Formats: sequence, structure tokens, C-alpha cells
Amino acid sequence: MITFPKEFRFGTATAAYQIEGAITQDGRGRNIWDDFSETPGKTYEGQTGAITNDHYNRYKEDIAIMKELGLDSYRLSIAWSRILPDGEGRVEQRGIDFYRRLFTELINNGIRPYVTLYHWDLPSALQAKGGWNNRATVDAYVQYAKTCFESFSDLIDVWMTFNEPFCSSFLGHAHGVHAPGHTSIQEAYTVLHHHYVAHGLTVRAFREGGYKGYIGIVLNNMTAGPATDSPEDKEACEIARAYGARLFLDPLYKGSYPEIAIAPGVTIPIQDGDLEITSTPFDFLGVNYYWEDMVQADASTPTKYKVVQTNRDKTAMGWDIYPEGLYNQLTWIHQNYEVNYMYVTENGAAFEDVVLHDGRIHDVYRTEYIRTHLEAIAKAIKEGVPVKGYFLWSFIDNFEWSYGYTKRFGIVRCDYDTQKRTIKDSGYWYRDLIAHNKSN
Ligand code: NOJ
Repeated sequence: MITFPKEFRFGTATAAYQIEGAITQDGRGRNIWDDFSETPGKTYEGQTGAITNDHYNRYKEDIAIMKELGLDSYRLSIAWSRILPDGEGRVEQRGIDFYRRLFTELINNGIRPYVTLYHWDLPSALQAKGGWNNRATVDAYVQYAKTCFESFSDLIDVWMTFNEPFCSSFLGHAHGVHAPGHTSIQEAYTVLHHHYVAHGLTVRAFREGGYKGYIGIVLNNMTAGPATDSPEDKEACEIARAYGARLFLDPLYKGSYPEIAIAPGVTIPIQDGDLEITSTPFDFLGVNYYWEDMVQADASTPTKYKVVQTNRDKTAMGWDIYPEGLYNQLTWIHQNYEVNYMYVTENGAAFEDVVLHDGRIHDVYRTEYIRTHLEAIAKAIKEGVPVKGYFLWSFIDNFEWSYGYTKRFGIVRCDYDTQKRTIKDSGYWYRDLIAHNKSN
């Protein structure tokens, strides 16, 4: 069994749009994922998060399972449009009441909530005014964040401003595969910058408000590895890291954007003082890790590198299984940035689960994935990298964005026809690992 330091936190992670459902309940406003998923052709067979796990109504049952598993922590996100249905202005008390009930239930069961403020579900009313491409959304976000601090600070002491800004800026605004489905490279950089200004102003508001606790941000950096030891491939790998990691870390830790990772023709709309704002010191970095890319020099591409196929085993997402990449990423960040401490805020795998005649899911492949990645973290910690906890993605199978319900990441299975929850073998394995560590 893998042993972690005494204070290490063991949790799972989810996000509001992926699990809550109940999209018209208690005055919730619409968000860009409602709109995007209802647009024909955007998600697998037009699937949406309208019902998903119905966690909004079943949260007590879910928390009872978390308790059974012995989780001491749980990372979740707040749906902005439940708190402010129009994104700004009017506050919906029923939304606040729901999260207070949820947080209280968690705490009463010995589970500490770790709260993400933005996991991609921008209120539609703000999108109608230009969304994150419009700097006014920064002010709306800060108002939303302050409302959350005021409403929940007696219950919550760990906050994350943004989840994976890469996805909400680039997948949503350049690649068009996430909401709002735009395809402008310029917009992607503008949106990223606005996320970061909003992040910095929110950290300041958190400090100025005197709220107790800690605040951080969650990134999914690319950890690139060179295909060979050749100087060309190593150089290509550095460029890939600039695009995939430094672009997201430098504004936070160094107050700059890496020149090399700004696409030709793009201008980042930096106003006076912005880079001081984006680099406002914050408490911790959340690292989401799923795979590492193997990178090769390629003079024919504009970026001078390309990602190459490997013969590593893959998950159902087609992502390489490569635990060393997690070790590489944690140590690389630690060596290159003044990070106080980190959490692995997401890590996990989708596989084609089968329910056997005994009604159980013997997902040895998922257990193996989790075990090897936890070993990689333990190794990094032994070498002095400050990692304080692990949040497995995910607690339960859920709405995997444009893949709909086709990809199952949970350690708990959800039967979407009946809403029946079944703990998978990986869940029991995680329970035993946690119990082993608690008994030390
Ligand atoms: C990253 C995201 O934060 C989460 O929403 C998603 O479901 C998982 N990774 C798996 O793709």
C-alpha cells in the first residue's frame, strides 16, 4: 500500500454542470453549456446535462457514499447561474440555500468541501453581451465571487477561481469544441487574459474581505516529453511547454506571457496594471493531470513541433496512460515556479466498464491507473515536491462535455435510466488505501 504524509487529503472531484441536472429548478438561470449542448451536432447524440446524475436532488445519497468510501475531501464547483441567474445583479436565494445545504451535509459527514468558482458554465445572459471576450465579464465574475465569499465563507475555506483556463479559452473559443463553440484564435487569448484578470482581482477581493482560508487556481498544463534525445526534439519540447504550460503559468507567477507562445497576429489586450493583477500572489496551484504528450521537431508546422503517437496503453478517451508524466509535471512546476504548494485536483480515467452478472464492476484497469499515478505523486513528495492532496476524477460517472455520457470516469457507476449508484471495485480499492493511510 502506498503511504502518504499524515496531513495528505484524499478526495474526489466533480463539476456542477456535469452532475447536478435540475437545470430549471429553484430559479437557476441558463448557461452556455445548456445552450451549446442543445445545439445540434455539438455533443454526442445531442446529450445534455439537463438531468445527468440528478445530484441536485440526490446529494445526500451521494454524500453517504462518499462517507462510506472514507473520503475526507471533495472538490466541486458552484453553478454561477444558480447564484446569479443573469450572471450579475439579482441574487437567487434558493441557489445559495442549496449550496449551504450541500456544504453543511458534507461537513457533517466529515468531508471538507474544496470549491471551484468557475468550471466553464458562464451564465447565458453574459454570453449575450460578449461573454469572456468582453472585459465587462471580469467585473461580473468578481461580483459573483464576492457573493460566494459572503454567502459561504463560514462553511468553506478552500477556493479555486478557475478550472482549466486552457479549456474554457482555447477549446471554447478557438477549437470550437466546448461552449460557446467559437473558432477565433484571437478570442481565445483575449478570453484567457480576462480569466486571469478576473482571477487576480478575485484573489485581492478575497484578501481584502478578510475571509479565512486559502485560494488557488486549477490548471491542466501540458507535460511534454521529447520523442528522442536529439537537440531538435528537446528544443521542440521546450516550445510545446511554452504553448501548453508556460502560457498559463507565467502570467500567474511571473507577470508576463511567454512571447514564443503568442500565436502570430494575436494581440493580448493587456491594460496598464493588468500583469500586476494576474500575478497577485495566491496560495496554491491545482494540477489536473491525465497524460503526457510526446513531442517531435517538425519544421513544417507553424509552431515547429508536433505531438506524435506512442505505443503506450490508452484509456477510453484515447489518452496515453503514463504515470511518470504526473511525476514529471509536478517536479517541473516545482523547479520552474515559486509554487507554495500543490494539490492534484484531478486525475483519473475513462474505461469501457462492464457490469458483470454479480452486479459489480471489476474495473482493475482503473484501479491500476489510480494506483500508479498515486505512486508517482508519492515519489515526487519524497523528493520534496509539496503536494497536499489528491482528487480523483471522478466521484461518479457523469456528463463528459461533448462526449456526453459515453465516457465513464467514476469510481461510482451511475445507471442513467434508474439513477442507481454502484461503487466500482476501484472505489473499494481507494477506500482501502485511504483507510490504510488514516490508520498510520
Ligand atoms: C478535465 C475537466 O476539468 C473535467 O470537467 C473533465 O470531465 C475531466 N478533465 C475529464 O476529461
